[in-house]
Amino acid sequence: MKDNKYVYNNLKIFIMEDYEAMSEKAASMVAAQMTLKNDSVLGLATGSTPEGMYRRLVQRYQQHQIDFHEIISFNLDEYYPILPENKESYAYYMEKNLFQFVNIARQNIHIPSGSHQNIDETCKAYDQAIAKAGNIDLQILGIGNNGHIGFNEPDIKFEAGTHLVELDEATILANSRFFESVEDVPKKAISMGIRNIMHSKKIVLMASGIAKAAVLKEMITGPVTPNLPASILQLHNDVTIILDEDAAKEIKAIL
Ligand code: GLP
Repeated sequence: MKDNKYVYNNLKIFIMEDYEAMSEKAASMVAAQMTLKNDSVLGLATGSTPEGMYRRLVQRYQQHQIDFHEIISFNLDEYYPILPENKESYAYYMEKNLFQFVNIARQNIHIPSGSHQNIDETCKAYDQAIAKAGNIDLQILGIGNNGHIGFNEPDIKFEAGTHLVELDEATILANSRFFESVEDVPKKAISMGIRNIMHSKKIVLMASGIAKAAVLKEMITGPVTPNLPASILQLHNDVTIILDEDAAKEIKAIL
């Protein structure tokens, strides 16, 4: 498999041939982490980007290459309000794409609750659970068209922990493709904050497709600013960005 590695602004960047190669690279990094440490704490992302990676992790599990029984997971975010049985909830997504197929212990799965009445309590408990687990060993991220990571929308406070987010119009519109209509997209979400993400020991951000090319260039080469939440990753000391050729279109000439 052909891959090209670059370093820019402290970020390690792999440009892979296509979506499948990007997914394979990300899956191999997660598998390596799990092999290195059986009880790794994984930070997990949703969206269409990591689906191929999850498929490969399931295959590796079925081939007895990796084992989830001591793995602890924390998902980045969940819509609010939403019930876990709603097919568009991130709880449902995780079952469908990963959890139902592997031997992860149910009590080790953490996803912010989209249905608890007391939001402050939910957020505080989530931060405490992450801290108790010793922080995240490997955090997987996608990126929104507006530069969000998790649901940390532009103008975020970098120091925030898990919190309630008002979703941007742009995010609601982008995510409406999964819902029957744009009106059905929840207007809020609970998301890990930038602080939680930055405390992760390793971060892997994946992106695919031409629609992400502009925001990636800005994130990698532009200033660190709350207007583009993902730009904060330039200040982390172990970030790997895995792109396919389309997502890398604008950045490639600069690297
Ligand atoms: C969603 C999620 C993010 C995800 C992003 C991109 O709103 N909250 O965690 O990275 O949008 O999604 P996609 O991979 O479908 O482009």
